[in-house]
Amino acid sequence: MSDITTVILAAGNSTRFKASKSKLVYPLCGLPIISHIYNIAKKISGKNVLVVCNNQNKEELKSILNTSKLVVQKKQKGTADAIEYVKKYVKSKNILILFGDTPLVEVKDIRKLIGKFKRSKAKASLIAFNTMKPHGYGRLLLNKNYVKEIIEQINLQAKQKKINLCNSGILISNTKLLFENLKNIKENKIKKERYLPDICKIFSKKNILINYIECTEDTMLGINTLDDFKKAQSILQKKYIQKFINTGVNFLKPETCYFSYDTKIESGVIIESNVTIKNSTLIKKGTTIKSNSYIEGSIIEENCIIGPSARIRPLSLIGKNSKIGNFVEIKNAKIGKNVAISHLSYVGDAFIGNKVNIGAGTITCNYDGKKKQKTIIEDNVFVGSNSSLVAPLIIKKNSKIGAGSVITKNVPNNSLALERSDLKILRNKSSK
Ligand code: UD1
Ligand code: MG
Repeated sequence: MSDITTVILAAGNSTRFKASKSKLVYPLCGLPIISHIYNIAKKISGKNVLVVCNNQNKEELKSILNTSKLVVQKKQKGTADAIEYVKKYVKSKNILILFGDTPLVEVKDIRKLIGKFKRSKAKASLIAFNTMKPHGYGRLLLNKNYVKEIIEQINLQAKQKKINLCNSGILISNTKLLFENLKNIKENKIKKERYLPDICKIFSKKNILINYIECTEDTMLGINTLDDFKKAQSILQKKYIQKFINTGVNFLKPETCYFSYDTKIESGVIIESNVTIKNSTLIKKGTTIKSNSYIEGSIIEENCIIGPSARIRPLSLIGKNSKIGNFVEIKNAKIGKNVAISHLSYVGDAFIGNKVNIGAGTITCNYDGKKKQKTIIEDNVFVGSNSSLVAPLIIKKNSKIGAGSVITKNVPNNSLALERSDLKILRNKSSK
């Protein structure tokens, strides 16, 4: 859609968020708030996206978004003032304005807005929504099917406070008309800011039509406070869970689980309670994730059993039909097929072959005080309980490690490695 430039307003002070930095950089389900909206903007106008930022958040937004198309609003004098800053950069016929703090909007909502805008006689179109809790939002005054005016919370008369139809802030307009009329927006006397929604009153006085579409409250939530942030998080979690259920994921208590925006779960997976799965993790078909497990940045292949209370740290791959049991921690490790690490173990910086059994309490001692060292355990190895495997180390195929051993040398194929002093039994002696 090359006739549209999308502008994201991200220069506010985040005062109501009560944080030391811009609210827009906070991760919402694993992705900064601003990135949620930026990804949508790119889908709508490709490279034709501009972000209005401030001097404080410029560098951080630049690195998060990996773009140089940032324009600094020098002083935070309101949303109309922010738009003035992009005037010289917008060359397209139409301008779409998105708010950085409204990240739950969906591409289909914007496409619907653009569709209505292009099919109608209106020179601007906006997205409105109905809510039982309109406090804080600008309210729409209508004239038949068109927007006559938007009144901000601070300027509402008592009876207008009951209006439930609110402004989402998302607006598309003919570029030329918007900039011609923008300068006529006056400063609000109380807030000393110039409000972009005031453009509606200016347009309607000149009989320039503004229409609107209605979207759901859940997709139009504006994040001003930490309370709004919490709401946004729970809306997204419900959305992700519903998407997983639709693909055939079976949950025990989904409301106790957490997923990030990039979690992928295939059909036939069972997820018990209090499970966290984040940072681009993929769980393949038929796997069960038992309660209290925490999985980040990893791939779990088909038909595995993970947990209860397992921790899978980034860059791990668990092969088909494997079992990672209770109080087992896996980090940066490739685990083969049909492997059992069932209890109380730490396996880090390791490569484990197929059909390996790792006994309870086994530790890969991967850190020599300076560097992380690698442990390689080949196919069909049996590691007895409570073994310490001091890396760097290779245990070759079909070998066995006796329980309680500290293994400091490589073990060849088909061997038994045992590090144990002889047991003495002295009859009728006390421990003294
Ligand atoms: C705004 C709208 C309100 C709407 C609501 C929807 C105005 C005046 N009001 O209110 O009608 O119902 O959003 O969520 O527009 N920003 C700048 N520069 C500034 C001020 C703000 O870039 O000088 C940016 C903010 O970073 C934010 C967006 O504009 O992303 C909206 O600003 P915010 O202060 O959150 O406006 P609201 O009070 O939520
Ligand atoms: Mg806001």
